[in-house]
Amino acid sequence: MMTSTSKDMEYILSILCLAVFTSKLVQSEDGSIWNERAQKDLKDSLNLVPNLNKAKNVILFLGDGMGINSVSAARLYKAQLTQQEEGTSTLAFEKFPYIALSKTYNTDRQTPDSAGTATAFLCGVKANLGTVGVNSNVPRFNCSLEEGNTVQSIIDWSEAEGKSTGIVTTARVTHATPAAAYAHSADRDWENDVNANGSCKDIARQLIEDNSHIEVILGGGQREFIPEGDGGRRTDNRTLTEEWIESIKAKKKTGHYVTTDTEFKTVDLSKTDHLLGLFAMSHMDYAIDRNDSNNENDQPSLAEMTATALKILQKNDKGFFLLVEGARIDHGHHENWAKRALYDTIAFDEAVEEALKNTDKEDTLIVVTADHSHAFTMAGYPEKGNDIFGIVKPVKEGSEPEDGLPYLSLVYGNGKGAMFDNNGTRRNFTDVDTHNNDFRFHAAVPLPYETHAAEDVGIFATGPMSHLFHGVHEQNYIAHVMAYASCVGINKDHCKPKPNDGPISGTNSEYSVIPKVLFITVVYILLQAFELP
Ligand SMILES: *[C@@H]1O[C@H](CO)[C@@H](O)[C@H](O)[C@H]1NC(C)=O
Ligand SMILES: *[C@@H]1O[C@H](CO)[C@@H](O)[C@H](O)[C@H]1NC(C)=O
Ligand SMILES: *[C@@H]1O[C@H](CO)[C@@H](O)[C@H](O)[C@H]1NC(C)=O
Ligand SMILES: *[C@@H]1O[C@H](CO)[C@@H](O)[C@H](O)[C@H]1NC(C)=O
Ligand SMILES: *[C@@H]1O[C@H](CO)[C@@H](O)[C@H](O)[C@H]1NC(C)=O
Ligand SMILES: *[C@@H]1O[C@H](CO)[C@@H](O)[C@H](O)[C@H]1NC(C)=O
Ligand SMILES: [Zn+2]
Repeated sequence: MMTSTSKDMEYILSILCLAVFTSKLVQSEDGSIWNERAQKDLKDSLNLVPNLNKAKNVILFLGDGMGINSVSAARLYKAQLTQQEEGTSTLAFEKFPYIALSKTYNTDRQTPDSAGTATAFLCGVKANLGTVGVNSNVPRFNCSLEEGNTVQSIIDWSEAEGKSTGIVTTARVTHATPAAAYAHSADRDWENDVNANGSCKDIARQLIEDNSHIEVILGGGQREFIPEGDGGRRTDNRTLTEEWIESIKAKKKTGHYVTTDTEFKTVDLSKTDHLLGLFAMSHMDYAIDRNDSNNENDQPSLAEMTATALKILQKNDKGFFLLVEGARIDHGHHENWAKRALYDTIAFDEAVEEALKNTDKEDTLIVVTADHSHAFTMAGYPEKGNDIFGIVKPVKEGSEPEDGLPYLSLVYGNGKGAMFDNNGTRRNFTDVDTHNNDFRFHAAVPLPYETHAAEDVGIFATGPMSHLFHGVHEQNYIAHVMAYASCVGINKDHCKPKPNDGPISGTNSEYSVIPKVLFITVVYILLQAFELP
């Protein structure tokens, strides 16, 4: 502890010195500013010391569909929104000390979906596309094969160690990513009893009937929990949200169910053990629409939900596991709505910032990653300062598009924003408002729904054991590191006190006093036995 504090001081002092030094150089154009910045980065890297603490808490931030392409473009978008120098690391998680790559393919697909990938990073095993919480013996759609092939998630492992757990998402809480944290389903779409045909147990039912131990559940998706007659999708006439309240009462705990931001803000968190918030019938709003002053929907932001979740989970002395999903980055891209996708990436980063502010890197492992990428790219040679959603100005004579039509740097491989008119001419958007939230960026292959992409995604980590993310990893490795760091699941053994570790508080008696008492008793009995005859 002492060494790390003095290292921190040394680090802060060196940053201050460098800051004073570089401020004099910022104006110079001889390249020295780049040397200074690189030297600072080098010094920080040389001072990097792995944090070998036990992670009391783990937070997994999952940017759905947030490939490295989205991270780079969102960084630039945020620089433009906040009038910072382009190239500045504007996103909180890109400053994390350890970064690695994750190979995202599903067991049966080169390009994966969110269900199979969530099973990998939450349950530790790769699975088939479309399946959650089951191993790859289960082909999609066949629930008769689930028995014997279900897998547990880090939520189960953490609960088994007495930790608290939470799920926060902007999607329906029964959607693929959160579902893999608590459900076992051969199809991700069996969110209610209609989809599940009655023959398989739907995901909403699994959440309410089998997972009342989860302390915090926040997101969208009311419709999966309530009857058709009440505007929901259930035909079994069950109101699962009421059943949830009853199940928490039965455990003699305090639980609250809320559906608006206004109600959410009035919950007395100090007196709340369990919180269920479903703020939309389906998914919650895109962050850019939520922030629109004309929006009358009463929904909290991802950052606000994260802050509240932390307040409840932090009451447990044994720590917690929290999953936070920025779900709609993915949905924006699927529609070729690059602006919505990138704004949601920034809102997701605000949730990461909220967690950094309210946790201690000495005892909390924070991992930021994506399940998969998208067929999205930023290309051309836009000049520095070019509006990220604006037309690319050709940098020199002869670099104009050959069809004489303007183009944007943000483009998709496929999707609804198909590039060509029926007669084969590229769409001409000279007078089109490309900043409109609904504007669809160009896509090469016309598809009804833009697709995921196969390339690796980033893993950004900070806190205990974050240095274990250091290379090109299989995606399911993420669950193993989180479990190892927090001493849950199959990775508990290294957490037991070793003989020369000295006493560990609270467990002292089990490890030293009991054997001594036993030894004395045995010797006493033996002595008695020898004396008797
Ligand atoms: C599901 O798997 C079982 C066992 O292999 C098989 O008998 C059945 O035909 C499968 N059902 C479907 C719908 O594929
Ligand atoms: C539900 O029924 C449809 C049509 O009969 C079938 O294609 C599908 O596989 C069934 N799903 C389940 C979960 O049995
Ligand atoms: C559904 O439940 C409500 C309230 O419990 C009841 O009034 C209604 O009759 C039920 N409807 C059906 C179709 O069972
Ligand atoms: C949305 O608005 C809130 C409140 O004004 C602000 O704090 C937040 O930064 C905005 N979100 C984004 C992504 O700009
Ligand atoms: C090309 O087709 C579009 C409809 O897809 C039409 O609006 C446009 O006028 C056509 N352009 C030419 C040059 O024919
Ligand atoms: C594109 O549209 C603009 C304005 O509508 C028009 O002036 C221009 O000629 C069009 N370009 C082509 C190549 O059709
Ligand atoms: Zn998707």
